[in-house]
Amino acid sequence: MTPALRAIDVKKSFSGIVALDNVTIEVAEGERVGLIGPNGAGKTTFFNCLLGVLRMDGGKVELAGEDVSRLPVHRRARLGIGRTFQRIELFPDSTVREHLLIAERTRRGDGRLWKDLVGLGRPKADEIARCDEVLELLGLADLADEPIERLSLGKGRLVEVGRALMTEPKVLLLDEPSSGLDRAETAALAQTLGEVQSQQGFAILLVEHDVEFVSTFTTRAYVLDFGRLIVEGPTREVMASDEVRTAYLGDLEVAE
Ligand SMILES: Nc1ncnc2c1ncn2[C@@H]1O[C@H](COP(=O)(O)OP(=O)(O)OP(=O)(O)O)[C@@H](O)[C@H]1O
Ligand SMILES: [Mg+2]
Repeated sequence: MTPALRAIDVKKSFSGIVALDNVTIEVAEGERVGLIGPNGAGKTTFFNCLLGVLRMDGGKVELAGEDVSRLPVHRRARLGIGRTFQRIELFPDSTVREHLLIAERTRRGDGRLWKDLVGLGRPKADEIARCDEVLELLGLADLADEPIERLSLGKGRLVEVGRALMTEPKVLLLDEPSSGLDRAETAALAQTLGEVQSQQGFAILLVEHDVEFVSTFTTRAYVLDFGRLIVEGPTREVMASDEVRTAYLGDLEVAE
């Protein structure tokens, strides 16, 4: 079956420093895959190459078999690749629903985004209904009218996920969703994400420093180190591999 996402020999350097050295990965439809590795390994850079935020120096990215290597960010998004950010990127004064509404309008691409920015675009009933559907899915319905600044970081992360889900991704890239969350919040996030993913069936590529999260959430994992893939396979085996245990797990735990 054609994979949901395939990246072949992705290369990226920053002023002569190699950040990604021929990285090749594959994510099947509906699969949950981990991407781990120490700080500076190139994980976020890889995401940005997949999304088209960064221009690759070489290699190829395919979404459902289609070569998107030369497409801009919004065209790739329309073809079904979504993301959440490593650092939370939300507007403190805007409400939870407003965040999803902007995402919905971007998806529809009806050219009225500028009106939203100056507060003129009044949401239509069907737009609100779609936002509320996603909020319901994520257990955020009660918080729809709350400004983001009143939410815990854990709920804020879920809003980010909700915003990504508005674009109906076939592949969702999650960049350290547990960052800044405590154990209970991380467990709650993993639980909700798992439920929504099983229900909707999109694929997930998860970058995480939280070992438990990666171990329980993903079935397969890749390990990136200094821009190169060093181990890949079933998550259980990857986590237990000598290479990862000695070289990375210490680092990963400290980095939490
Ligand atoms: N825009 C940039 N300009 C120059 N160098 C960059 C840029 N972005 C990333 N790098 C470098 O590329 C390497 C990979 O960084 P990247 O942020 O992708 O790592 P990461 O695996 O996401 O790390 P972390 O776990 O800390 O988030 C690092 O050496 C970083 O300094
Ligand atoms: Mg990163």
